[in-house]
Amino acid sequence: MKNNIFKIFLNNEIYRYGTTELLNFETQMERYFTREYKQWLNNKESPETYGLNSFSGEISKIETRDISVSHYDEEYFLYKSFLDKDYMAYTMGYFGATKESSKLNDISLEQAQANKYKLIVERANIEDGQTILDLGCGYGGLSKYLLATFPNIKVIGINPSVVQVNHIRNVLLQENNEFDNSRFRIIQAFFDDIDASIFEDDYFDRVISIGLLEHVTNIDLLQNKISRILKQGGKCLHHCIVACDTLPGFLNSEDTLMGEYYPGAHIWPYNEPQRHDVHLHFLESWFINGLNYWKTLDEWHRRFWETIDQLYPEYMTLEEVDKWNKYFSLCKAMFRPNNGTSYGNGQYLYEKR
Ligand SMILES: C[S@@+](CC[C@H](N)C(=O)[O-])C[C@H]1O[C@@H](n2cnc3c(N)ncnc32)[C@H](O)[C@@H]1O
Repeated sequence: MKNNIFKIFLNNEIYRYGTTELLNFETQMERYFTREYKQWLNNKESPETYGLNSFSGEISKIETRDISVSHYDEEYFLYKSFLDKDYMAYTMGYFGATKESSKLNDISLEQAQANKYKLIVERANIEDGQTILDLGCGYGGLSKYLLATFPNIKVIGINPSVVQVNHIRNVLLQENNEFDNSRFRIIQAFFDDIDASIFEDDYFDRVISIGLLEHVTNIDLLQNKISRILKQGGKCLHHCIVACDTLPGFLNSEDTLMGEYYPGAHIWPYNEPQRHDVHLHFLESWFINGLNYWKTLDEWHRRFWETIDQLYPEYMTLEEVDKWNKYFSLCKAMFRPNNGTSYGNGQYLYEKR
């Protein structure tokens, strides 16, 4: 069965994971991004220089935000086929590569996702008994980790994606005792549209976002809104994809191939979220080596191909297989140059003033 499918793909120039053709394609893309990063090495200009201002406008662009989130509303079974089984996290796992050492630990994707949550818990000083906002909660991975780790923690998740929220309601709430309604609540909405008063002022001990800032244009307005719902002394941690230097071509996704997948999105330079010290006090930030994301994407890519006969032809067209195959290759090629030191993830910790 799989062999017949592979023949169809080959006839349509769709090369599967691990083939020489696909590896050559990824190498070419890596060379392209390596040149791009070299061209902008040490460019510390602010995004304003290139017409993007993280202190103005809407939290996320109204005209593109629905299309951007529709990426998460693609078929549920597709994400189930490649994401980790424990948390269904759709962001990097932490395999241990640091800026100093690009060595990756030989651990499972599931363990790497748990390691990311552990790191966030440590850096944000999350403790039992706190109330946490999981902002842009995806399939609820962080919420699941926190509820299972801390018996007295309370979590509220916010997410506009129907498919992801359905997973939380139909799978997590049904199958996991931790998700009882005295400890967990899910709100299906854009944070932008939520009236902060529904939480009462000074509600949360911690606000954590993983993979949200890429969707946010006005970080200042976001921080303002978060400051209203944080308790005095409360903390906020944002985790997002960043470039070490300012890459003008990456500031607006519409200028790159990524616009097809995430219109209205931004790759901020590492320094940008540090400038947001107005509504919340900026405390500390960490760069996470991009090889962690490369390895995560490579494992997603491998799992996607491992289950391809369950996806094609029943649920996916040839065009969709081609699109997703290229998506994995493209993203991998961005994170790999210079051993993950040019493009990776940033974590930013703030405290309520
Ligand atoms: C890259 S995914 C990450 C999901 C999850 N945090 C994880 O690590 O798996 C980004 C998430 O942010 C959500 N999101 C995007 N824009 C948002 C907004 N304006 N308000 C709240 N959530 C948003 C998306 O629906 C999606 O669940």
